[in-house]
Amino acid sequence: MFLSEPLTPEDMMVQSCPEASPAKWHLAHTTWFFESFVLREFLAGYRLFHPQFAWLFNSYYETFSPFPEKRLRASFARPGLDEVLRYREHVDSAMERLLEGDPDPEALRRIELGVNHEEQHQELLLTDILNAFFTNPLKPKYRDQEREGTREPEDREQRTGGAGRLRAPLEFQQFEGGLREAGHAGDSFCFDNELPRHRVWLEPFRLANRLVTCGEYAEFIAGGGYRKAELWLSAGWDAVKANGWQAPLYWTAKDGAWNVFTLRGDQPLTSLEDVPVSQVSFYEADAYARWAGRRLPTEFEWEAAAEGQPVEGNLLDSGRLMPSPATDLIQSGSGTKCYGDCWVWTSSAYLGYPGFRPLDGTLGEYNGKFMSGQMVLRGGSCVTPRAHIRASYRNFFAPETRWQFSGIRLAS
Ligand SMILES: [Fe+2]
Repeated sequence: MFLSEPLTPEDMMVQSCPEASPAKWHLAHTTWFFESFVLREFLAGYRLFHPQFAWLFNSYYETFSPFPEKRLRASFARPGLDEVLRYREHVDSAMERLLEGDPDPEALRRIELGVNHEEQHQELLLTDILNAFFTNPLKPKYRDQEREGTREPEDREQRTGGAGRLRAPLEFQQFEGGLREAGHAGDSFCFDNELPRHRVWLEPFRLANRLVTCGEYAEFIAGGGYRKAELWLSAGWDAVKANGWQAPLYWTAKDGAWNVFTLRGDQPLTSLEDVPVSQVSFYEADAYARWAGRRLPTEFEWEAAAEGQPVEGNLLDSGRLMPSPATDLIQSGSGTKCYGDCWVWTSSAYLGYPGFRPLDGTLGEYNGKFMSGQMVLRGGSCVTPRAHIRASYRNFFAPETRWQFSGIRLAS
């Protein structure tokens, strides 16, 4: 609810691209998840808040109930926001009653899944409202300032020691190859797609110490990156032509200069040159890497680099709501940091690990049925809750997807 505070009821109705959902729908759907998969089965005498909500707020669980087409979610003027908030209160108080008793261990497992599900939708609420505001000609800001108590990065002059433009140097850290294990280890929560832990073989590799910045990406654009078919995968070049791509999703040209739209409003590229580029597709990340004479990491290379690192970085909890300048990261002086700012596209197709077994029943539809035609992203973004991300976490999107905070980390 905290994340929807800056939004008006009208803001919360907008569904501005096929991937996005209205904020009001996110509030209702995350509530529906607890009602449908926990309360209906595990709280004796639970009364459904509304008989129609059981299917109305189902996203994609075919074996649970029919559900409306995704593109119609912006048509849900009813139930109104007040009723959705009452729905949340109704389910919250029922959850409290359930937890006051002695819940079945399976109920506890599903509650943990429901909390993690809600964290995913917290991120989606922000990426979706960013798209909604980008498509609004008035270009509203989700938030003007960082939350109280969070540190605004020092100004550019201070960061660069007054020396003007000083991009944090791009360096590559060497990692040994060999036989390793990948996937979630231990008893803590993970999604089914992070299991089973299994052996992988890695050749020695090198991974960039930071993400590709907007300034570097602007050089790719200025160098004709979007006009040279030889840099692109065939499907990527088709996407460039079909969609007229000339820059990342939220870059607009104004008087010969780029502006970048963020949750904190439209900002000139000149103020973001050291900030990681985001809202690029897999195809753009891949083409940039080829232009730079590098490649994207595999998901297992990224995991090998991240394993053992504390989950630290510019995540939702920082309150910054946009990627941080790479200079801040480098000046913190701890080498390659894998988490936060932008999800990184990997060159790995999203597939089940050897021996993958989806959850039993309807919840088996959560991840497994999407293991076709999508690429894995790793590391979390500036709108991912810190408690949500880990070394084994696998995000996944179709390669043409651009509305997420998705960026580029080079490997070789
Ligand atoms: Fe969901």
